Amino acid sequence: MKSCIVYYSATGNTKLVAEAAASATGADLVEVKDLADYSKAMMYVRGAPRARRGEKAEIEPASIDVGDYGLVAVGTPVWAFRPTPAANAIVAALKNCEGKQAIAFATSSGMPGDTLEVLSANLKERGMAVAGTFHLSDKAIKKGEGIDGLADLINSASGA
Ligand SMILES: Cc1cc2nc3c(=O)[nH]c(=O)nc-3n(C[C@H](O)[C@H](O)[C@H](O)COP(=O)(O)O)c2cc1C
Repeated sequence: MKSCIVYYSATGNTKLVAEAAASATGADLVEVKDLADYSKAMMYVRGAPRARRGEKAEIEPASIDVGDYGLVAVGTPVWAFRPTPAANAIVAALKNCEGKQAIAFATSSGMPGDTLEVLSANLKERGMAVAGTFHLSDKAIKKGEGIDGLADLINSASGA
């Protein structure tokens, strides 16, 4: 079963986790950009309140066809204890995702709050079956600890 990892990353941590999992599993990788292109300060001033309200960003690519895949992992940084507006938009942008397996993953400073629950619920609303969730702190990422966890989850969920 082919897998795909779709993610947003503002400062590189989620990207690192996504890239490690893609190279360990052979999953395809789709990086999504938030067209708001926040500065670091604006992430807190504008982005975090939008995340808190569950808003969707304008993203590029605007549509993500996952019809070729059996499993789709969606990754986000935690902003204000929630998925980013870009991650909310990713879930809405998925095409042909109904009935597929999903994994929700996030990176944070250690306080992920409701992020994985909200992201999982959004994926379920799109008709996907959430096979698992994964979280890694930026401290663990810097130490290189636990980074294999997402690949392990993808392999076990996809039967690889
Ligand atoms: C606007 C903003 C809000 C954040 N809110 C939280 C938070 O609520 N809880 C937490 O543990 N970390 C929070 N963080 C830290 C990030 O989630 C963490 O550094 C993450 O790994 C960043 O991922 P990235 O490098 O892929 O963008 C926040 C960071 C930013 C920029």
